[in-house]
Amino acid sequence: MSETSQRPVLVVDFGAQYAQLIARRVREASVYSEIVPHTITAAEVAAKNPIGIVLSGGPSSVYEEGAPALDTGILELGVPTLGICYGFQVMATQLGGEVAHTGQREYGSTAVTARTDDNQLLRGQPTAQTVWMSHGDSVAIAPDGFEVLASTASTPVAAFANDEKRFYGVQWHPEVKHSQYGQDVIVNFLHKAAGIPADWNSGNVIAEQVEKIRAQVGSARVIAGLSGGVDSAVAAAIVHEAVGDQLVCVFVDHGLLRQDERRQVEVDYVAATGIRLVTIDAREQFLTALAGVSDPETKRKIIGREFIRSFEQAERDLIAEADADGEPIRFLVQGTLYPDVVESGGGSGTANIKSHHNVGGLPEDLQFELVEPLRALFKDEVRAIGRELGLPEEIVGRQPFPGPGLGIRIVGEVTEARLELLRHADAIVRAELSAAGLDGEIWQCPVVLLADVRSVGVQGDGRTYGHPIVLRPVSSEDAMTADWTRLPYDVLARISNRITNEVADVNRVVLDVTSKPPGTIEWE
Ligand code: XMP
Repeated sequence: MSETSQRPVLVVDFGAQYAQLIARRVREASVYSEIVPHTITAAEVAAKNPIGIVLSGGPSSVYEEGAPALDTGILELGVPTLGICYGFQVMATQLGGEVAHTGQREYGSTAVTARTDDNQLLRGQPTAQTVWMSHGDSVAIAPDGFEVLASTASTPVAAFANDEKRFYGVQWHPEVKHSQYGQDVIVNFLHKAAGIPADWNSGNVIAEQVEKIRAQVGSARVIAGLSGGVDSAVAAAIVHEAVGDQLVCVFVDHGLLRQDERRQVEVDYVAATGIRLVTIDAREQFLTALAGVSDPETKRKIIGREFIRSFEQAERDLIAEADADGEPIRFLVQGTLYPDVVESGGGSGTANIKSHHNVGGLPEDLQFELVEPLRALFKDEVRAIGRELGLPEEIVGRQPFPGPGLGIRIVGEVTEARLELLRHADAIVRAELSAAGLDGEIWQCPVVLLADVRSVGVQGDGRTYGHPIVLRPVSSEDAMTADWTRLPYDVLARISNRITNEVADVNRVVLDVTSKPPGTIEWE
């Protein structure tokens, strides 16, 4: 089922990291997109009534045994289609062209010569440009009826077009920033070649969600959990826009929060929205439930379970004080985002990497129906919607923080003393990064306490035997992939000095220099 009533551009996922990036680039061109698996049938595609199709890249070779295929009926539906890399080769073979092993692998920045004056796809671009390539096979012969639009030193058919059928393909990756005019290729395909209007924006996403929420909820009451993060804050604000005081927000202080977060929710957010808020102090409850637990997945499950239990307790309390005619609280708002849906296997059948607290970690005895107004959205879109709804910049601009909070940033058992220590170190890191003006470069910077590790140090006149703190600054576009941020040495030095001087029991600060993959962003 579609996440919205908007006619989508379908991004067919051939199993690499690229599908989400393509979906985002399409939306950056103000067109709604959805990711579907390559196993989708022509009938299923037709049922989604797409206005365009993009076939993604993938790691396989089209002639390899077991290579991901595409239902041949899909290219007979008359939907404008753009094939990218592997998707380009799938198109070529299905439409009667030929793909061959050239023996020459092209990888990385590559010069292409393009025809840019007589076709819809590359119109208006320079003829000589640099694109990002990653392929072994190449299209040797374009299908009948197709014009060759570009070539490289080793690839004679690097792009093709059939303007009449509105079929296009490029061997390079236009979705990657290293392709100089990549976004122009996507924009041209959508608006010029396929004639799709640019009408996906924050305003109509809000309008559509408001209507959908009203239809789903009726006159029942809704409860929303605020975590202090962007997602729950924006999700609750949209629901408030839709049903006003039928919504009550519950803020569970699970004790796994960062310094000052409780105040920001209780004071700043409430002032901006006028939302009704109840705070539950569940610090003891969570600490007790987590006592003795070191395994990350077990921690996540416990935190997810206790979270819902807290809501159910809040629900009972709220019902008890409700008006005599009080409607029951039947709905729970969740700030689930599109990448969570895709990563948890809901979007494309990809493997479940971690049980995300707001998707997979819910207990089976959940008593609420879910309202998930952000299920179709990427993070940057959620921020745009938050701004549109007038939320304070310090909330919508905030870095992502995981639902299970500091609980999954203490490697080892979670105790109050360790939380206190980590909160202190985390506050120093955040303050120094902001002071250095680095917030814009960093996607997020988890600060991790290796509670089960000790190392020898020396401080003043004495030997110490303290814990290491790990800094994990990452740059990312969507948290699906990430690279470690090259922070200036002087900023790292200041952070390290302050932490080792000011935080008791920490005598070492280390920097995580692992990309994702292979490392995840969080340590647990
Ligand atoms: P990983 O560690 O999987 O994190 O690379 C990707 C992004 O997701 C956040 N994250 C979570 N968010 N509940 C959440 O709401 C979770 O259980 C959870 N685990 C990871 C993480 O901070 C990063 O932004």
